[in-house]
Amino acid sequence: MSSVQQACAGVVVAKKRQREKLKVLLRRAQIRKRVRAIARQIERDCKGESVHLICILKGACIFLADLLRELRIPVSVDFIAVSSYGKGSLPSGEVRITKDLDRSIEGLHVIIIEDILDTGLTLNYLYRLLQARRPCSLKIAVLLDKPDRRVTEVVVDYIGFKIPDEFVVGYGLDYAELYRNLPDVCVLPTVDT
Ligand code: IMP
Ligand code: MG
Repeated sequence: MSSVQQACAGVVVAKKRQREKLKVLLRRAQIRKRVRAIARQIERDCKGESVHLICILKGACIFLADLLRELRIPVSVDFIAVSSYGKGSLPSGEVRITKDLDRSIEGLHVIIIEDILDTGLTLNYLYRLLQARRPCSLKIAVLLDKPDRRVTEVVVDYIGFKIPDEFVVGYGLDYAELYRNLPDVCVLPTVDT
């Protein structure tokens, strides 16, 4: 076997080991159904008005993409990036904007789209920041909620699933930038949160 073939075989084995450690928590079909239900709820609440979705990068990108395509009302989109977790899973308690919005949200009906509500530090900070920019209304949609980990209160308008205090990956969520591409939400058992 050539050194290239050996390297490729090594990658395949490493990926297989990675998958074996993961336990599926929410299957893609379950997620699709719930995202659809949230879209219907948003449509009802918007009463024909257009809505501006703000996706928190990078974790919420898949949730945004699926929700966006389910919505049957006029929708615009913007992105914001914050850093709060560093490279691993331990929260630093510090929230920093690394990419700001492209346009003003003044007078718009805004919904913040987030992958997971954990301690609440990120959404608490972002909500106050965006509220100060005078949107017409400001709501929050999260795919996942880990209520056991909350350290600061956040009022959320749309929740996909409440989950136990476990570190999850997939459907956009990462651990050290890996696993975002998994279609299901899975528990990564070896991570301390
Ligand atoms: P919070 O500020 O503690 O609520 O954390 C929110 C952010 O932490 C999320 O946007 C995620 O990026 C990250 N996070 C929290 N829990 C998890 C998890 O279980 N898996 C992956 N990322 C997580
Ligand atoms: Mg995130």
